[in-house]
Order: sequence, then structure tokens, then C-alpha cells
Amino acid sequence: MQGVAKVMEESKDLGQTVRTGILRTLPLRVLQFLLLFFILCLGFAIISMNTFRFFSVQPIAPVAPSIFVTCVEEADSIESWIRPPSNLMHTMNDTELLWRASFVPQIADYPFERVPKIAFMFLTKGPLPLAPLWERFFERHERLYSIYIHTLPSYYGDYPSSSVFHKRQIPSQEVEWGKISMCDAERRLLANALLDISNEWFILLSESCIPLHNFSTIYRYISRSQHSFVGSFDDPGPYGRGRYDQRMEPEVTLSQWRKGSQWFEVNRKLAINILEDITYYPKFRDFCQPACYVDEHYFPTMLTIQVPQLLANRSLTWTDWSRGGAHPATFGKSDINEELFKKNFEGQFCLYNNQPSSWCYLFARKFAPSALEPLLELASTVLGY
Ligand SMILES: *[C@@H]1O[C@H](CO)[C@@H](O)[C@H](O)[C@H]1NC(C)=O
Ligand SMILES: *[C@@H]1O[C@H](CO)[C@@H](O)[C@H](O)[C@H]1NC(C)=O
Ligand SMILES: *[C@@H]1O[C@H](CO)[C@@H](O)[C@H](O)[C@H]1NC(C)=O
Repeated sequence: MQGVAKVMEESKDLGQTVRTGILRTLPLRVLQFLLLFFILCLGFAIISMNTFRFFSVQPIAPVAPSIFVTCVEEADSIESWIRPPSNLMHTMNDTELLWRASFVPQIADYPFERVPKIAFMFLTKGPLPLAPLWERFFERHERLYSIYIHTLPSYYGDYPSSSVFHKRQIPSQEVEWGKISMCDAERRLLANALLDISNEWFILLSESCIPLHNFSTIYRYISRSQHSFVGSFDDPGPYGRGRYDQRMEPEVTLSQWRKGSQWFEVNRKLAINILEDITYYPKFRDFCQPACYVDEHYFPTMLTIQVPQLLANRSLTWTDWSRGGAHPATFGKSDINEELFKKNFEGQFCLYNNQPSSWCYLFARKFAPSALEPLLELASTVLGY
């Protein structure tokens, strides 16, 4: 730290020296030298300045130390690369944000102790009515998660500083149901979450989702999985293949076309795949418009083409479609009892790391604001938090 500070101090000195002292004190011969080097290139110029300083220039008065401290932290310490952004409300537009978020280290080992975190990304219109339940879920696990909230741009959630949701809103934009702006919002959430190098897994949630297990169970399930939980299947019917548009060829063929739940979990690698995509994005934007709901097809199809072996092909978020129609069932106050959870979450079957498992879902939706109170009552016995 001290060594670094010293170097900074020297170069700072150098800047002032060049400005104030150069014309006054340098001999003609040296000036000619300087001119030559300037013509050659800027790099040489810098080297030459160092030489002059060494030979002929007196040190000048030091600048206030506080400035050096800021300078060193911003520019030189590894901490500045590890530390998550202190203010999520940055001024980057989407182009700049996605570019910045796509930076990937090329050396696999981290030169510091990295505790991988789960990024919980809430895609909402505004308020989070089930926030008290989530607060309880997150309690005492500060080191292992981060939270990001995408809302309508006009909404401001005034969470108290004691809340896990305090200042976790990201710069957001208008979202239309089933349109590409929905995928833009999801990419925006991923990009913001990628700026924290400790985030390793990324989960998309809505304001009506609840966790079905305690935090340590969910963390273990996700961190030990060999696959990312993206729903992806080939649906031959009108709501699957029926939504395919042949103009997507050759990038996407009918046999590659997939459908899956919008509520995904991806790791850092897949999150970058999603951000950097410029091959499939224009195809889905132009040729998958309602009644083709792009958020049900874009990521499942794209990832199945690119990295099929990394996908579990199922979502971690349970949704009740049993009542039929375009929208899933919503559970309110009177629906919440132990029976609901027993009936829906016992005796399931799925694959986890290629082994049969009866634990298939970590989250569930949709729950109305009125469900909060009974859920809080059941949380410790039924949900385990
Ligand atoms: C973001 O700003 C850059 C530089 O001004 C511009 O080239 C780019 O088109 C902008 N992107 C969006 C999405 O507005
Ligand atoms: C979390 O849930 C698991 C499984 O239900 C249980 O074994 C574990 O003790 C719980 N952990 C805490 C901290 O409550
Ligand atoms: C998911 O589906 C792809 C092809 O669609 C397949 O290659 C992959 O093995 C499947 N994943 C699992 C865990 O079965």
C-alpha cells in the first residue's frame, strides 16, 4: 500500500513538474531531445519526462495526503475491482452497461478469497408486497446474496435502511408483457448483477414469488448443481412450435425452437452468453411478437442451441397452471394452509445432477399481497425459515 502510494505521489509530482518547471529550467539540448521523443510517440515522451526529472528537476511541494488515498483506492488497489458498486443508480445506458458487464477475467483463479453469492433479481412493476417474508428468509446470510430490483421507471421504493431492499433498485425502463422489452429488462438485471464480481448465480423472480425452503437449503441446491435451471422443452402444439416463424432461419430452425418458463436461474457464464448475444436477439425481436411471447422462447432457445449440456431444462419456480387460461392461478389469504404446500410439493419427481430427486422447486408463484399474513405464520413450520 505504501509502495503504491509513493508511486502515485511521484507521478503526481511529475505532472506538476512538467507543467510548471519545464520551460524555466530545462537546457536547450534536452528540449531538442524532448521534441524528438514527442514526434516518435507518446509512450516515449513519458519515459523521457522521467529521465528529465531524474537529472534536473527539483521536487515540488507535496499535495494533501487525502487526495492520494482516494487516488490509490480508485486506480490501483485490487479492492476497487472486488468491491461491489456502492450506488446501483449508475448513469450508464444499456449499451454501455452491457459492454461493461461483459468483462470476463481470463485467469481462472481469483487472487483473493471469493465467496460466491446468489443474485436475487426482482422484476416488478413497483412494490414488493411480500417483502417481510423475504426479509425473514435473508436474515443472517448477508455474505451470500445480493438483491436487484427492476421496476417501472417512475416508481421509487422507499425501503428503510434496515431493509435488505434498501437502495437495491436499478435504473429501469418501461416493460410490456410478452414483448422484447421484457427480455431487455431481464438482461438489464443480469448486467447490473454482473458488476458485482462475487455474484455467481442469478435468479429471476417476481413480486409474487416466495421461497419454499430456508436460505441454506436453497444456496446448497443451487451451488452444488451441475446445471443451470432454465426451463426448455420442445412443445409440438400451437403454443410451442406454433409460434415459430420461418424467417428466423438459418439462426433458429423449427427443431431448435424451445419453450420454457420465464423464471430462470443461470450461472455467470450463461449470464454473459445472454448479454453478449447479437445473433439471436434481432431474430426474436423482429419475428417473435405476441401471440409469440418472446420471454418464453428467447433464452430457452438460444441457450439450448449454445450450451445444451449446461441446462437442467426445468425451472426452479413452481407455477399453478392447473386452472387453465393464459394466466396462472394466484393464491390469496384463504388459499394458504399446510395442505397447499403438502399437496403441491410432496412426491414430485425430477433429475438433480442426473439423479432422481423429489426436491424440484425452490420458489413458487403467484401469491397475492393478502397471502402475506398467513405465509408469515406458516413460514417457520412449513417453509423452514
Ligand atoms: C448509449 O450511449 C452511446 C454513446 O453516447 C450511444 O452510442 C448508444 O447508442 C447509447 N445507447 C442507447 C441504448 O441509448
Ligand atoms: C434449513 O432446512 C433444512 C432442511 O429442511 C434443515 O435441515 C436445516 O436445519 C435448516 N437450516 C436452518 C438454519 O434452519
Ligand atoms: C437438456 O436438453 C438438452 C437438449 O435439448 C440436452 O442436451 C441436455 O442433456 C438436457 N439436460 C439434462 C440435464 O438432461
